[in-house]
This record gives sequence, C-alpha cells and structure tokens, in this order.
Amino acid sequence: MCSIIGYSGKLNLAAPLLVDSLKKMEYRGYDSVGIATLNNGNIMVSKGVGKVAEVDKELNLNRLPGQIGIGHTRWATHGGVNDKNAHPHYSCTSNIAVVHNGIIENYHELKTELANEGHIFKSQTDSEVIAHLLEKYSRISNNDIKKTMIETCKNLKGSFAFVAVFDNGIISGARFDEPLIIGISSQALFLSSDVLGFLKHTDKSIFLDNGDIVILENDNYTIFDDSGNVVQRPLTQVAWELGSSEKGKFAHYTLKEIHEQTSTLLKPLNDSNDFATFCEYLQRASNIYITGSGTSYNSGLLGKLLLSKYARKKSEVYMSSEFQYFSDTIEPNSVVIAISQSGETADVLHSVKKAKETGAKIVSIVNIPTSSLARMSDSYVTLNCGPEIGVAATKSFMSQLMILYKIVSTLSNQYVSLEGSELKNLQNLISKVLGLDDKIRNLINSLDSNIKDIYILGRSIHYPIALEGSLKIKELAYIHAEGIAAGELKHGPLALIDQESVVIVINPVDETHLDVISSANEIKSRGAYIIGLSNLRNEVYDAFIELPKVADYLYPVIEIIPLQLMSYYLAIKKQVDPDYPRNLAKSVTVK
Ligand code: AGP
Ligand code: GLU
Repeated sequence: MCSIIGYSGKLNLAAPLLVDSLKKMEYRGYDSVGIATLNNGNIMVSKGVGKVAEVDKELNLNRLPGQIGIGHTRWATHGGVNDKNAHPHYSCTSNIAVVHNGIIENYHELKTELANEGHIFKSQTDSEVIAHLLEKYSRISNNDIKKTMIETCKNLKGSFAFVAVFDNGIISGARFDEPLIIGISSQALFLSSDVLGFLKHTDKSIFLDNGDIVILENDNYTIFDDSGNVVQRPLTQVAWELGSSEKGKFAHYTLKEIHEQTSTLLKPLNDSNDFATFCEYLQRASNIYITGSGTSYNSGLLGKLLLSKYARKKSEVYMSSEFQYFSDTIEPNSVVIAISQSGETADVLHSVKKAKETGAKIVSIVNIPTSSLARMSDSYVTLNCGPEIGVAATKSFMSQLMILYKIVSTLSNQYVSLEGSELKNLQNLISKVLGLDDKIRNLINSLDSNIKDIYILGRSIHYPIALEGSLKIKELAYIHAEGIAAGELKHGPLALIDQESVVIVINPVDETHLDVISSANEIKSRGAYIIGLSNLRNEVYDAFIELPKVADYLYPVIEIIPLQLMSYYLAIKKQVDPDYPRNLAKSVTVK
C-alpha cells in the first residue's frame, strides 16, 4: 500500500500540488516520498526517506519545475527503506518514471529477463520492473502509449496500481486490484489512490474498474480495458468534507478522532442506505459468517457475541487472512458480513472473493462507500464517520459497533433498544468518559516508563474490547500488550504475571463481574499493578477509572474510550508519533 498521484493540468506548477496531495494521503504509507515532474521534455525526480514535510524541507520537492507530474509515499514491501528504493523509478534512459502501489509477484523473473536484455536496475524494489517494461514496449511500439501500457500490464502478475509519466507529456495509469481514481476538474486531471489526493480541487471522480488503463493527455482522458477497448465508467460526485480531515485544536489526528466519537457515534444510525436489504439478507441466511482484519475483526468478534446473545443468531467469525482456508466448508445460503473501514484491505477483498465463488452473499460494513469492498458486495452500510487519518482505528471502531447494535436491534426487535432518548443519553455518557482525558493522562504519567508488558482482561462482550485495547497499545506505544479472556488466565497466561506487569481489568457490573474480580485477585497475589475499568470500585484495583452505568450490552462502546486514551498517552509518554506508527499503514492493500 502507499499513495500514488498523477497530475496533468493547467492549474499551476505540478510539484506543490503533488506535495500537498501526498500530505493528505500520507496515512497510506510514510517510509519515503518522491515526485517526478516533466520540465521542457526532461523528467526530473526528487525523492528521499522520511515523511512528506521532512523530505520536502530537505529537498525542496515543491520547487521542482514542470507542469505535469507524479508522486508517491511508500510503505516498503520489497527492498529496504532508503533513497534508492523510494519511488518514482526511472527507466534506463530516464524518459519514463513510475510510481507503484502494491506488489509485482513475478518481479524476479521479469527483472532477470530485462537485465539480460540490457536494462540496468538501480533499486531493490519490485516496482522498478514496471519502468523498464514500459521502456521496452514503448521502443517496440514506437512510442504508442496505449500499446505500451497494455503490453506492460499483460506481463505483470500481482495486485498493483501504477502511474507513469512519459517525456512526451502523457500520464498514464493502470488499476489491477489496487485503487486508482480519476479526479476531473475544468483545469486539471488527477489520478490518485484516494479521493483525498484531489478533493481540494474537485469532487468529480471516476472510480476505475479492475483491469482499466487510463491515459491523460492535456485536458483529455481515455479509459480502456486490458484488451484496448475504450470503456466508459460512471462519473461520481464524492461527498467528503475536506475540512474534517484537519487536526483542529488537537495535537494529533488520533486524539481528535478519539474525541470526535461523541458526534460520529450516531451518524451510522441515520444512514438509511440499503439497511433494510442488508438485514433481509441476514434474516434469510441459513449461516452467517463474519470477517475483517485487525480492529474490524475485533468488531466482528463482538458482532458474533451480540448476534448470539441478543438476536439468538449463530455466526462464525474469521480473521480475513485465515477465512480463505475455510471456504471449502461454506454451506449453501450463507451470508458473509465483511467489515472494513477502508474497504480496500487485500485480505478482506480476497476472502470475500473466495466466499462469493461458493455462492455466498456478501453484506459489508464500510466507511468508504465507493471502496472496492462496497462495490463487490450485494448490500452495504456505511459508518459515515468521516475520514479517519490516524493509522490506528478509533472512531471507525466505535461506528462499527453502533452498526452492529443496529443490526442486532433490528434482528432481535426485543433485547437491544436504540430509542432516541437512550441514544442521547449514550452520547452524554460518551462525553463524560472523554472528560476523563486528564485523569487518564496523569495515570499513564504515573506509571513506570519502562513498562514491558500490559495485559487486558475481559469476559464475554468485554473480551473483544480487551483485544482491541491491546491492539491499540501495540500500535501506538510499541509496548507488548495482550487481551486475555479472563477465564483463560489460569490456563496459562498467569505464568507471565509478576511484579512488573500492568493489568487492566475491564469489569463493569454485569454477569461477568464477580468472575473477573476473582481473576483480578489471582493477579494481585502475584504482585501485578491492576487498573480497574468499572462502574464499581473494588479494593483489588491499584488505580480506578470509573465508567458510567449503561445498559449491559452498551458497555463496550463506553469502555473502549479509556483504552484508546491510555494507548494515546502511552505513545506521547514514549515520544513516538501516534498518528503514524512505525512499520504500519492505514490501508493494507497487500496480502
Ligand atoms: C487498526 O488500528 C489497524 N490499523 C488495523 O488493524 C486495521 O484495523 C486493519 O488493517 C483493517 O483495516 P480496514 O478496517 O480498513 O479493513
Ligand atoms: N512494492 C513496492 C515497494 O516496496 C510498492 C509498495 C507500496 O505500495 O508502497 O516499493
């Protein structure tokens, strides 16, 4: 994954526009950054390791002359994080430069073949083969860009989107299992991984289909399929408010997004898009599967519990990266609920594709209605929580939970109530928990700076929250953290507990309360420091975060907030950037 952008237009110099677009899409990958512009028939490349603002400051990327160009932020898959491996990559004669998102699976064979033909490689990336293939086929076709693109794509295996700039003034891109969107304004054309790359200039977009190739020449664009037939794709108006992707008064996007949850909480409930159809699929299904990755998988785990407990519906939940191995046993009349904030996660798309092949219907929960997942689903509902820039999912998790409550409430029509006054009350309680921000910061600051392990305990519907809390701590603060089903403690994990351990116990007063108190006592006897998250104090807790009282089934949405804040303040204490955790990217579009 990474962000790619291409720009062809009369607006201004290309470089400042490209740099600005890359800053907006940086959440997708941030190992290194680079741009290429065309100036007086020469392609100029500037690139380096670091975040966009840092590299721009050092290399003055935005002063590169030229009216058209391409840009990239990288999340390395092949080849180390260094200047040479940063994109764009040149062809041998520097008459073509390429930016690429994804993986070229057969790059090794292609590289050997091209090297034998005399091509000189300068990087260790898989991506560079694209530049050399384009060079090869443009020579063979006598600079016919359409033929060059088709032949190049025919040779590539894997999931990829790329954009190339040619020294004759053409920009061309291809989409094969990675996103690529055209942005169209009267002054300019963009090719981008995400609408955020051009939304400042236009909201008119075309979402390319898989296998589409596009050529931008001055103000014109042509789309054709991989056999060269010209195709038309619908024009879409995207409805993101760019303003909401600014940090506002907050130090980081992550903190802003945690605090935004009071307002984003109810948004998915008002979105009527296809909800009735979505639920009808579930009502008619003989079997329900749920799948997602990372945070979205944790939502799925809670979904399974809620469906069982409150709607008396059995379901099975699988991590998307593992689901493919079970597709042989998907029974007839099955429905898969696929959960994904981005709707572009390769593991999710792949597992859904496999499930579809068995005849299963796909209903999805996404934040991006124009995403690949939404488009391959029989029905989808949207989180409607606005762009989530922080790489760690926070507000989207909460919105996923709210959609799951809405589904369970519709299917059960009895146990889970989401009446207006209760929701208003929930909103107030969420504000109240967010008001614990200072207290949580102080608590984190009072802890030892060298914490090595944090364990989070919860039973039943609190267990997925323990998993999600531990994922947040790992991602944001780089501390080993583990969510443990409290009852499992005695079956092994208790051996890990000693005086150095910090254990967070999720323990509101419900049917799990007393059992969890027993687990907490077992931990206390081994000398660990215990933080209780509950609406009832207990002497076993060394520190206490008070949760307000809510209906039992709603505790998960309340108790995740202190865990998100703790993770954020652990990152701040450690002086690492919570918005851009090392080695990660927001949208994981490789398997
Ligand atoms: C969440 O904090 C992570 N960054 C990650 O686990 C994420 O939830 C996962 O990659 C799935 O993303 P998706 O919801 O966009 O499919
Ligand atoms: N596979 C390419 C690389 O490692 C592109 C990775 C990306 O999508 O950023 O450079």
